[in-house]
Amino acid sequence: MKILFLDQSGKLGGAELSLTDLAKPYRHHCLVGLFADGTFRELLEHQQIPVQVLTTEPIRVKKDSGIFQSLESMNSLVPLIIKVTQIARDYQLIYANTQKALVVGAFASLFSHRPLVYHLHDILSPDHFSLTNRRIAVTLTNRLASLVITNSQATQTAFIAAGGRSELTKVVYNGFELNSYKTQANDPNHIRKKLGLDGQFIVGHFSRLSPWKGQHILLEALTQCSPEVSAILVGDALFGEQNYVQHLHQQVAELGLKERVQFLGFRSDIVPLMKACDLIAHTSTAPEPFGRVIVEAMLCERPIVAAAGGGVIELIEAEKTGWLFSPNNSPQLAQIITTCRNQPERAATMARQAQSQASQRFNLNTVNQQIAQLLDRVIFTQSLN
Ligand code: UDP
Ligand code: GLC
Repeated sequence: MKILFLDQSGKLGGAELSLTDLAKPYRHHCLVGLFADGTFRELLEHQQIPVQVLTTEPIRVKKDSGIFQSLESMNSLVPLIIKVTQIARDYQLIYANTQKALVVGAFASLFSHRPLVYHLHDILSPDHFSLTNRRIAVTLTNRLASLVITNSQATQTAFIAAGGRSELTKVVYNGFELNSYKTQANDPNHIRKKLGLDGQFIVGHFSRLSPWKGQHILLEALTQCSPEVSAILVGDALFGEQNYVQHLHQQVAELGLKERVQFLGFRSDIVPLMKACDLIAHTSTAPEPFGRVIVEAMLCERPIVAAAGGGVIELIEAEKTGWLFSPNNSPQLAQIITTCRNQPERAATMARQAQSQASQRFNLNTVNQQIAQLLDRVIFTQSLN
């Protein structure tokens, strides 16, 4: 099947890592069209997935844009829509992976008569999107998409609550290449020593630095834990959240945590780093649509604690495959960190259970087969019309 994938980002967020895994089986017949250049293009090229940067003009709609900004941005979208329409004629299906990709893909689908699939990775709620942006996404999807793949039930529910047609939706969780998480190549103790954290209880936080990812909640919790608990913050500000980064550094200084917190920036060696941690914390303050990091922690057989919101509660069985705490509740998080540290056998049992369950539920091969069947059906239905 010939697929034109579209994604607005040049950077490596979860939606882009997920698309890389989905596009791989189609690499001889697909193109990934990007609306910005960057490390995402490099990763696709490295994986031998055809990629083209379709524009380097920034599209000025933000997640909280109002109607006027959105209309204004349409001007810059017109040449892109024309280009994508032309390209789409060589493909059987347009697969939009982000919201701006949906806008461009919807019009290109209309003009090129190619079916449109929208992979919705975001929760369309006021926490994440302005009313205007939610309306645009829902209206275009309802009118022009043949299928909406949502990354969790929470994402599906929010789409329907925003006015989306439920019959278009299908929940498909992210899949993961299980072998990548089995590697024993790097000795966890070596990494701990290299970080200067030997003997410490290490809590790992693996997320881009952004206020709603809640790194500040983990810092608050640390002050309520033993001084032998340290944290590594892995990830960078991907979308210009420099003020937040500054705020985090200031918070570390003010709380006297300099010896206990390390900022490691964006890393591509997530697996060995996770394996060097005693616990992985996921601290989103707004509902997380899916949360790849949670599944990755499980596949690395590391204990996980996560804020109970959005898709997270579909991933973790409380007290069986991980711990849940109320979003923003740093004392509760601190208590769980302490429990995990004091009860290593219980934590190891939970991590083992999580590893086994996650390997069953989030196997990339199964997920890719599921998606292939859904796309076949879209093409088949289109051929009947
Ligand atoms: N990640 C990474 N390097 C980093 C930080 C994060 O490769 O330094 C990866 C992480 O392993 C995960 C993805 O980025 O696969 C983030 O996806 P998630 O769904 O957790 O959150 P998002 O940022 O997409 O909202
Ligand atoms: C988005 C969401 C994240 C999800 C990822 C992959 O980036 O914010 O929760 O895990 O997409 O679906």
